[in-house]
Amino acid sequence: MTRPTADDAGGGARMREGIKAMAPADESVVFLTGAAEGLGGEIARELAKAGQRLALFDVQADKLQAVADELAPVTEVLPLVVDLSDAAATEQAVQRALRHYGTPRALIHDAAVLKEVAMIDVSFDNWRREVDVTLQAAFILSRAVWPGMVRARRGSILYVSSGSALGGFVKETAYTPAKHAQEGLMRVLELEGREFNIAVNTITTGRPIDTPMSASHYTEKMKIGMVHPSRLAPAFVFLSGIDASFATGQRFNAFQLSEAIRSAAA
Ligand SMILES: NC(=O)c1ccc[n+]([C@@H]2O[C@H](COP(=O)([O-])OP(=O)(O)OC[C@H]3O[C@@H](n4cnc5c(N)ncnc54)[C@H](O)[C@@H]3O)[C@@H](O)[C@H]2O)c1
Repeated sequence: MTRPTADDAGGGARMREGIKAMAPADESVVFLTGAAEGLGGEIARELAKAGQRLALFDVQADKLQAVADELAPVTEVLPLVVDLSDAAATEQAVQRALRHYGTPRALIHDAAVLKEVAMIDVSFDNWRREVDVTLQAAFILSRAVWPGMVRARRGSILYVSSGSALGGFVKETAYTPAKHAQEGLMRVLELEGREFNIAVNTITTGRPIDTPMSASHYTEKMKIGMVHPSRLAPAFVFLSGIDASFATGQRFNAFQLSEAIRSAAA
């Protein structure tokens, strides 16, 4: 097993320094990807309502700005237009968020791309792009916030997963392996994070959700039981405030957890 070196951006050294000097993470800041629309947009709205300050990452500039403008009267929002399949751009964007806010209380990686293309047709570039948005970005973003969370001895990292993370689906040549791999990254980080009380979990939707992603590829049969993505958002607010002493290494179900939160509040 080799350690990252040239592109490590000082991660290992930063980590060791960090362990020596404990400093709190900002309790009221969440970094969220995929916030321009779909589930991510609803998570951003719910986090803002809960008083969280936000760094929002997405590739769709106009839609991201619209979400930022909508939430600006409610909370502080830093919109970051970035193509999360681009490693250097992702690193730059997350460093900008860190300079602006410091270490966040939570990182939620929601952005993903799903293009259904059979093996016989898929190009390497298309395959790579989907994998990079899901997996590479999860790695780069997590590595960027990790040293601060280690120093703070707390934090919550949450990757949005899918049924595709456990099973396989025809024409998901990139999406399914990327979601599987994201589960694998979670498995490693939950072990490394325990010592520092950092929660690292994944979360499935639990129900099909009515978003641009499902509109583009769901059949009528797959839409059975479909709910508005806002129904899932309370789970993300709750999980952005946990640490490993509560739960780590879990695959949460956003629909079920949100229903439980709603019924407990009723
Ligand atoms: N829609 C469903 O029923 C369903 C089911 C299971 C899991 N999921 C998961 O839920 C999450 C949200 O899905 P959704 O349905 O809201 O998807 P969506 O396509 O509606 O929204 C995804 C967001 O990610 C952003 N994004 C895509 N590529 C990007 C890139 N290269 N750089 C930066 N941002 C990028 C998009 O601009 C968009 O705002 C995803 O992780 C998805 O895999 C969705």
